[in-house]
Amino acid sequence: MADKDSAGSETFHNPSAADPAYHDLDSRIALAGHPIHAMLVAFPIAGSFALAFCDVAYWWTGDPFWARAALWASGGGFAMGCLAALAGAAELLLVPGVRRRAAAWSHAVAAMVLLGVMAASWSLRLQQGAEAILPWGLILSWLALGLVGIAGWHGGKLVFEHQVGVSLPGTEEDNDPALKPSDMKGNSPS
Ligand code: HEM
Repeated sequence: MADKDSAGSETFHNPSAADPAYHDLDSRIALAGHPIHAMLVAFPIAGSFALAFCDVAYWWTGDPFWARAALWASGGGFAMGCLAALAGAAELLLVPGVRRRAAAWSHAVAAMVLLGVMAASWSLRLQQGAEAILPWGLILSWLALGLVGIAGWHGGKLVFEHQVGVSLPGTEEDNDPALKPSDMKGNSPS
């Protein structure tokens, strides 16, 4: 929606920001306030990178060690990705401010496509072993890397731009009357 400010230039505002639920961004699936999804996503991300590396190493050397390593990277990455997706899906359904952000839905769609590609990649390797790698294993592992980039970008937007699951000033320790500003890390005037 566009309005004119006092200088006559157009300003845009988001009408859904007036809805109090838009600002409810506290993580519901967390350990001591730390979102579990953020703890788990490192595994499928590392699995996808390891898989792409192992496939290239197999292509380059022909050593079957890399085909076995790729099988474990794809299976481990997929299994841990499913756990991460469960935590992420629960956050999406339970946190009203997350559901109201487009980045959350772009992230969820990219992440689900990523899981589908990882499942296909793992099942192909289970059925065909090292023969699966050239060319389809390699194509799928590099496609997964691209999807990790897209999903991770939108996931990062949720945290670093929209501050999903972030404890903001005015909560917890900042409300402790015994604490002076100079006691808090990063708040010291010097
Ligand atoms: C394997 C797949 C997935 C990957 C690699 C992934 C990756 C990420 C990353 C990197 C972040 C930012 C967190 C940080 O920087 O520490 C994030 C946040 C988030 N993701 Fe995912 N994600 C995946 C699956 C999903 C799915 C399927 C959903 C929902 C259906 C989802 C919902 C969320 C939500 C709500 C956040 C905000 C932070 C939080 O509440 O934990 N994610 N994700």
